[in-house]
Amino acid sequence: MRAYDLILKKRNGGELSVEEIDFLVKGYTEGSIPDYQMAAFLMAVYFRGMSDREAADLTEAMVRSGDRCDLGSIPGIKVDKHSTGGVGDKTTLIVAPLAAAAGVPVAKMSGRGLGHTGGTVDKLESIPGFRTTLTLDEMAKQVRETGVAVVAQTGNLTPADKKLYALRDVTATVDSIPLIASSVMSKKLASGADAVVLDVKAGSGAFMKTVQGAVDLARAMVAVGERRGLHTVALVTGMDEPLGTAVGNALEVREAIDVLAGGGPEDLRELCVNLASYMVVLGRKAPTPADARRLCEELLSGGCALAKFREWISTQGGDPAVIEDGSLLPRAAREVPVPSAASGFVESIDAETVGKAASLLGAGRLTKESSIDPAVGVTVIKKVGMRVEEGEPLGILHVNDPAGLDEAMTALQKAYRFGQEPPPRRRLIIAVVTRDGVDGHPPLST
Ligand code: URA
Repeated sequence: MRAYDLILKKRNGGELSVEEIDFLVKGYTEGSIPDYQMAAFLMAVYFRGMSDREAADLTEAMVRSGDRCDLGSIPGIKVDKHSTGGVGDKTTLIVAPLAAAAGVPVAKMSGRGLGHTGGTVDKLESIPGFRTTLTLDEMAKQVRETGVAVVAQTGNLTPADKKLYALRDVTATVDSIPLIASSVMSKKLASGADAVVLDVKAGSGAFMKTVQGAVDLARAMVAVGERRGLHTVALVTGMDEPLGTAVGNALEVREAIDVLAGGGPEDLRELCVNLASYMVVLGRKAPTPADARRLCEELLSGGCALAKFREWISTQGGDPAVIEDGSLLPRAAREVPVPSAASGFVESIDAETVGKAASLLGAGRLTKESSIDPAVGVTVIKKVGMRVEEGEPLGILHVNDPAGLDEAMTALQKAYRFGQEPPPRRRLIIAVVTRDGVDGHPPLST
């Protein structure tokens, strides 16, 4: 087999066999296929696409390039959760203990995250003492005993994806649906869960800017998961403003605690209840999404989800007193309100720009080596649909180092678009994608 012939075949719109895909992935990971040939192949995929079968074979080849976690010692159906990323997305901190409180074992590996704010691991590490570097055995033991563990990625999972992703990043081939689907699903498969709920975001703060793009990506990921034996449900959800009100690591932990305590912002709570409900259905702890929703609502209002969060923090070495006393979490030296430059109804808030404001204050890391400040970030006061008068605060900047303050203030102001009428209400849960197809129903109701 020659890489040249496979590039030509894909360039001309052909469908590659499993052996041909294996040859490319193995050869590229081992170094016998050079970057320039793989780059040409990726560009051919970008323009020609891949069938579901090809994408599933590509996924499996990437899984086989490295280690695969064995969660077999944990009884029950292990359910993972993944978000394609969004600003203010602290859903894992809420849905992991919520699903665990419903009896679904959650053993999740998570990232630190580059970009605007930290990843889930960074958020958890803002809890004093919280340890995210567990071994696989420690993680399995904790899930057997407590029902939930979220740890930083360990082992050599999907090295082919790491190498391919780095190449895609510099060859303008990241935003190809089969390549994103196989990249994300290879990591989910290698992490060893039995089922996964995906949160695929659509909108200004998301990878996929349009609903159609997000639905297509969700469908491709569900197809890959189901073909490889990972039961997969995807929710397509709106990301036209930051999720909830907190953007920044410790701020997001505080907001997650509010939701687990039965309060918190409506959009965040609604999304978490939906995600956890599908996890509960996949974990066979409720027969239908509506039953699962009732269970999740009870676990939130009755304090069981918060009790599970407390147990989880302590078993992973953190100080559970942060639940009652938010001052035990890192807190920034100054809180600076950002006045609105205009009056009107908030029409949209560019989530990416709010993320940029948080990152200018030090909430995110720009390179793998840079450190983050867990205390800083943005609290969004005015959400979409709210009325604002000129001079009223749009949000609050939580600041330690004043170097980025002016730029962050301007960024937050620029993120807002105003109208003279209240904007139409947008749906948060846009569609649910399963192996049976795409369902554009409104959110589950009790
Ligand atoms: N996230 C991933 O892990 N892979 C992609 O290809 C895109 C986003």
